[in-house]
Amino acid sequence: MTGKFITLEGMDGAGKSTHIPTIIAALQARGIEVVSTREPGGTALGERLRELLLHENMHVETETLLMFAARREHIASIIAPALARGAYVLSDRFTDATYAYQSGAKGVAAVKVELLEQWVHADLQPDLTLLFDVPVEVSIQRLATARSPDKFEREDAGFFMRIRQAYLQRAQQNPARFRIIDANRSLEDVKKSVEDEISIL
Ligand code: TYD
Repeated sequence: MTGKFITLEGMDGAGKSTHIPTIIAALQARGIEVVSTREPGGTALGERLRELLLHENMHVETETLLMFAARREHIASIIAPALARGAYVLSDRFTDATYAYQSGAKGVAAVKVELLEQWVHADLQPDLTLLFDVPVEVSIQRLATARSPDKFEREDAGFFMRIRQAYLQRAQQNPARFRIIDANRSLEDVKKSVEDEISIL
């Protein structure tokens, strides 16, 4: 028995995390076991790496390697065992975020990310990736009213524009698993779209 792997992606401020309870409830209503997790993080070691990644300045390749180190641990101790027992895994971000942030926005060559992806999870890809998409101005406006920003959330508009472009490109390159959710709508409308996508999984 194998479960399904769902990932949530999008710029900071796109509002993806708001919909996690909706997705969990929709799946549980179908009697499915859901493991809800996040990256960077998801394990005790991963959460310690998250602290460093979100608040320490470091070389962008160090950052990329640490993202994948946290991911390796996450897959080994949480994601793979859950999928093996038939659970659905819902992860708030995964490797598409490394393509968007470290490669698209910060300039690490995509081939380097591909190498790490092959090393760390050659045989694992999400079954469904919901990309919460909003214009950059909206994301920046939402972040301005949010809690104190981490290091990524303090970047400028150009940084966010590159993230959005990189995510949209990832979606174009992987149409079978990506669904773009227009998150620049009312919460209710976005929730409805999310439920629709989950219902056909
Ligand atoms: P985020 O998922 O937005 O959590 P929160 O809602 O608590 O702020 O924060 C994680 C940050 O880490 C986000 O700014 C994107 C960044 N990130 C990367 O740069 N690369 C990655 O591979 C991952 C998983 C996250």
